[in-house]
Amino acid sequence: MNNQTFTMIKPDAVKNGFSGAILNHIIKAGFQITALKLTRLTPEKAGEFYAIHKERPFYDELVKFMSSGPIIAAILIKENAVEDFRKVIGATDPSKAADGSIRKLYAQSVGENAIHGSDSDANAQIEGNFFFSDLERF
Ligand code: RTP
Ligand code: MG
Repeated sequence: MNNQTFTMIKPDAVKNGFSGAILNHIIKAGFQITALKLTRLTPEKAGEFYAIHKERPFYDELVKFMSSGPIIAAILIKENAVEDFRKVIGATDPSKAADGSIRKLYAQSVGENAIHGSDSDANAQIEGNFFFSDLERF
């Protein structure tokens, strides 16, 4: 199953009014949105979502940021979804992200970098299930 990925438009991008432009960018890049919600993570949920980074020096800052305001969560469908979407969002550090990528266009810093994309097919499934029930997918 390599046709699904999961994304979040992070609090900085929602706050800065980039949600519409980013969703348009995603659709124009050939992804079909099969689940979508505007929601907010509690610090507990944000910590759980990024638990893999628990030992990293930026973890507390990341949890604080990801629970600081509303986010948009979505499940995206496309052939080779995970890899293709990582290209669409660009490198973690926006200053190193390719021209035309979402992070290059809409992110300010490595900590507040506008968007999340799953890094493997297995994580795409886990992360989609973290936010959406079967009834919320179309
Ligand atoms: P994401 O999981 O959000 O799609 O980002 P990513 O794969 O490109 O980067 P990852 O290594 O998984 O890091 C997760 C998020 O942690 C924040 N971060 N801050 N201050 C720092 O040095 C630092 N490094 C990472 C970023 O928000 C990054 O997207
Ligand atoms: Mg990651």
